[in-house]
Amino acid sequence: MNEEINVVSLIGVGFLGKQIAEKASLKNYTIRLYDVNAEDLDKYSEELRMKKKTEGEVTSHNSIEEAIKDADLIIEAAPEKLELKRELFTIIGKAAQPNAIIATNSSSIPVSKLEDVVEQKDKLLNIHFYNVFTMPMADIMRGTKTSDDTFERGKKWVESIDITPLIVKKECYGFVFNRVWRAIKKEVLKIWAGGYADFEDVDKAWRIFMGAGLAPFELMDQVGLDVVYDIEMSYYKKSGWDDDKPPQALKDFVDADNLGKKTGKGFYTYK
Ligand SMILES: NC(=O)c1ccc[n+]([C@@H]2O[C@H](COP(=O)([O-])OP(=O)(O)OC[C@H]3O[C@@H](n4cnc5c(N)ncnc54)[C@H](O)[C@@H]3O)[C@@H](O)[C@H]2O)c1
Repeated sequence: MNEEINVVSLIGVGFLGKQIAEKASLKNYTIRLYDVNAEDLDKYSEELRMKKKTEGEVTSHNSIEEAIKDADLIIEAAPEKLELKRELFTIIGKAAQPNAIIATNSSSIPVSKLEDVVEQKDKLLNIHFYNVFTMPMADIMRGTKTSDDTFERGKKWVESIDITPLIVKKECYGFVFNRVWRAIKKEVLKIWAGGYADFEDVDKAWRIFMGAGLAPFELMDQVGLDVVYDIEMSYYKKSGWDDDKPPQALKDFVDADNLGKKTGKGFYTYK
């Protein structure tokens, strides 16, 4: 346990927020949860309390202000929409304790894009997790005014929950490894949507080439195709290049609620 951080609040408790909460709860941190979907949140926090093997408490809250009032670290893990994250950071900035670190788990938005809505600009961080239990690493990136103290405390906390920190030395869209993954994702989507090959064949080739592991279309299904689409749109909005625009065929999946594992159908079908 990192002694400077005791209470960790998660704002947005979906696919990733849940994993972060669970991992931190195993290390005795006090976990506070807030999500707009209150019904699911209550069910989930009860599950987490049952699963936990440590002393720290897990509580769910009806407002962001309540959920963060005694937090030393706040991690926002709401959908990948810049305007939504700016709204959340505005509320968080006003209600957080002065020394609290405010981090976003965004996959593509540098925290500098959220800086102007909070006073405590020195406390901001990108802490970008991957799948917490199968890919235990997290990119850590500063905003333009993040202090060394914030960066070090954030890094130590990540290490304290047995996650390897990936230090981003200067602002980079896609951080460290997500940038590599993004290049792969962009190309395989183009191959599939352009009708050049079936996604199953791309995944098959990947497994042979890499020796094993989760293949790109399988991984996108796991991440959630709505999340993948929003991330790709975020890169596209940044560059404005047509080449970065995600294919319409991916949007069609999202519109049809074929979001991957979470809805039972994406590229693959799940029982
Ligand atoms: N899915 C992944 O593999 C993955 C990996 C790394 C980072 N991320 C990033 O994590 C963030 C969340 O992604 P996810 O996959 O967990 O998405 P998700 O859709 O599973 O979860 C988002 C959660 O945010 C909640 N939410 C929506 N509006 C809210 C609001 N105004 N206030 C509080 N909660 C709100 C939703 O109810 C939902 O529970 C995104 O920024 C994404 O880029 C995702």
